[in-house]
Amino acid sequence: NIGAERFLPEEISLPALREAARRCEGCDLYLNATQTVFGDGVPDARFMLVGEEPGDQEDRQGAPFVGPAGRVLDRALEEAGIDRDAVYVTNAVKHFKFQPRGKRRIHQKPTAAEIDACHPWLDAEMRLVDPAVTVILGATAGRALLGPSFRVTRQRGQALPRAEGSYYVATVHPSAILRAPDRETAYTGFLSDLRVAAALP
Ligand code: URA
Ligand code: SF4
Repeated sequence: NIGAERFLPEEISLPALREAARRCEGCDLYLNATQTVFGDGVPDARFMLVGEEPGDQEDRQGAPFVGPAGRVLDRALEEAGIDRDAVYVTNAVKHFKFQPRGKRRIHQKPTAAEIDACHPWLDAEMRLVDPAVTVILGATAGRALLGPSFRVTRQRGQALPRAEGSYYVATVHPSAILRAPDRETAYTGFLSDLRVAAALP
């Protein structure tokens, strides 16, 4: 892992970052994935949503949260009254990590080293978008933004100060809702965390 730092463009803008990220070889994940899945959304977004890594659909289509987890997210954003046009969506890690199993590709969690290697992209996105509210979707995003002591169960659903007048709100990953034994309860908890984010000043 050499890290993404050396692949950052000289000019720091979202279009320049997105273009440069296509050629990132900051860790080994670019080797087997189809493409870099960079963040997407309005540059002056009030809300920044940070997931883990692209999934199978995202890897094929080249955009974040366009698969099953994205559908859960879209529904919850709408119910929480968060306008999709006020959102920038990205991931802690920009390449899909998977294990081939027959014709299927089984999602694998990124390691701490991969999260660290990819961090320069996320950091640059955070600085450019400078959102008032950053929603942390699950443990990987929490680790990327708040460090290894982050625990979803302990920190979810509260406004955690980020910088002057800006906050983090952590919640579960939308994929975890799809895997939960009781989906309704898991979804309700997710929605209530998003409502905390929506209600911030
Ligand atoms: N899960 C994520 O964390 N990100 C995506 O973009 C899709 C699924
Ligand atoms: Fe670069 Fe991140 Fe992809 Fe690794 S996962 S190659 S650091 S963009």
